[in-house]
Amino acid sequence: MKTGTHDISVNYLGMELRSPLVPSASPLGEHVETLQQMENSGAGAVVLPSLFEDPYERHPNHPGFYFEEIIKAREALKIPVIASLNATTPESWIHLATQIAQAGAHALELNIYHLSLSPEVPSSEVEKAYIDVVKSVTSAVSIPVSVKLPPFFTNLTHMARDLKNAGAMGLVLFNRFYQPDLDLLSMGPGYTLRLSTSAENRLPLRWISLLYQHEIGYLAASTGIRTGADVLKMILSGASITQVCSILLQRGIPWLEAIEGELHQWMDTCNIRSLREARGTLSHRCMQNPDQIEREEYLKALQGYARIDVPSWRDERPIQIESRFKFGAR
Ligand SMILES: Cc1cc2nc3c(=O)[nH]c(=O)nc-3n(C[C@H](O)[C@H](O)[C@H](O)COP(=O)(O)O)c2cc1C
Repeated sequence: MKTGTHDISVNYLGMELRSPLVPSASPLGEHVETLQQMENSGAGAVVLPSLFEDPYERHPNHPGFYFEEIIKAREALKIPVIASLNATTPESWIHLATQIAQAGAHALELNIYHLSLSPEVPSSEVEKAYIDVVKSVTSAVSIPVSVKLPPFFTNLTHMARDLKNAGAMGLVLFNRFYQPDLDLLSMGPGYTLRLSTSAENRLPLRWISLLYQHEIGYLAASTGIRTGADVLKMILSGASITQVCSILLQRGIPWLEAIEGELHQWMDTCNIRSLREARGTLSHRCMQNPDQIEREEYLKALQGYARIDVPSWRDERPIQIESRFKFGAR
């Protein structure tokens, strides 16, 4: 759909979306009323909170309530409804994914989180567990399936290709896990939830840019996307959509409109008429020698680091130190 002179429509997992802005899995998507609010505020699609297999027995309506929510959301919304699943056994991945598809979800996001704590388990085995889940789910359902990944793989490019070959149509980069802190007063773990900042989107930005050239399917950016500028950077790097969570928890669902407004402003400033045409134009694909450029950028970043204020240990007043990096010098 065209808004003004800018076309912000995108295609994700084969679905036509009016906008790349997609609220990601979170409690904000638990009720059909808030899902409608997302649609009214311009969301291109919605991702429902994950169906976690674990509380299965503790909640008498679980997982039936989840399938009912999918049915209600499908009835109430015009935009695509993406369900999300986090199961634990091979049987339940298949069983629950099949029921989600039967309930009418347009697509399914697999929220796989497999943390191996045993030194006996090699990384290849952990990766195989991901691949096996994707293979079994994609053989069981005919709706598009994407995989939400953590960033911690030895070779993410290889892993991404294997996931595509296993049947994943897209990847969501990245899931954000809540690492516990230590609470020195209780001398125990501290579990305060810290929402993200835009600074955290450098990780998905870089990987989307690197993966785009390998044509491993649709890429969805997640983590630290808060502004129209963040959205445009992700699209230029190769993302098809941008998922938003923390900013909506902080500012409320209607803030989607502010992000979209800013996206239009940036498209104007950068003379971009269509997100489809702009997608991936600043990815590493456009660079002739990505490995060498990656190294040069790394060295430049380290050398340019001196151009910041560094607080002194003693009085915490910022002190100015001069840059060793000269802009424009190659
Ligand atoms: C309170 C809360 C609940 C979340 N629940 C889920 C979930 O059920 N499934 C999932 O895949 N991600 C879940 N996430 C992760 C978000 O979907 C998102 O990937 C992550 O917060 C990074 O995006 P952000 O930087 O915009 O917050 C949750 C995040 C928060 C803050």
